[in-house]
Amino acid sequence: MVNLVKVSKQEDFGKVAAYIVSSLVQTSPRAVLGLATGGTPVDLYKELINIFNQGVISFSKVKTFNLDEYVGLPADHPASYRAFMNKHLFDHIDIDMNNTHVPNGQAANPDQECSRYDAMLSESVIDLQVLGIGHNGHIGFNEPADQLMPGTHVVDLLPETREANARYFQSVDEVPAQAITMGVGTIMKSRQILLMVRGADKAEIIHRALTGPITTLCPASLLQLHPNVTVLMDGEAGRLF
Ligand code: GLP
Repeated sequence: MVNLVKVSKQEDFGKVAAYIVSSLVQTSPRAVLGLATGGTPVDLYKELINIFNQGVISFSKVKTFNLDEYVGLPADHPASYRAFMNKHLFDHIDIDMNNTHVPNGQAANPDQECSRYDAMLSESVIDLQVLGIGHNGHIGFNEPADQLMPGTHVVDLLPETREANARYFQSVDEVPAQAITMGVGTIMKSRQILLMVRGADKAEIIHRALTGPITTLCPASLLQLHPNVTVLMDGEAGRLF
């Protein structure tokens, strides 16, 4: 079941998302969170840090799994998703870094790294998965394709995805051609999903994903089949609803 939540004030976008995540952490201190990168969840992480600083919640027993990572980028490269997570969240809260998991983009054997990540995931169920959506309907780095993979795998990034993420690099040529991503099977197995969508440029794709056919050509459309999805949109992204 998909619940739509539209916020009209930009400052409420991160606050509402943080309320959903922090309520879970408050009631389940050992929660397993699935986390996302990109511009959209930045305000969520900012608000979570605020809530943490108020002494209301602790992340000391929380475990996290990130959706994806670029292949070939060192963890300390500023555009790596590990660096993103440390900078925007982990360095500012009381989480045990050993409980934070991001695929290792520098693994000598990326396929083996995918198996290692899946083995860790198989020991937990993600209580709440935070997602963004790409302009082409991707979730994590599960790109539109004839077939989608259930588990963690290496993916070739589509030109439009590399273009969209070029803003974090000096040029589009520097954006890695491949990434490791959690598969749609793992995403769909999470107990609850929070899909965050912001901006006029996402209005069409989120409308298509939620009201159009369920198809691997729009990976986010699979979320229509999930029992507990909250889609948090700002006014611009939600203008077609
Ligand atoms: C990347 C990430 C996705 C994210 C998407 C949208 O491709 N792999 O997880 O949802 O970007 O990012 P943004 O929120 O910056 O639009």
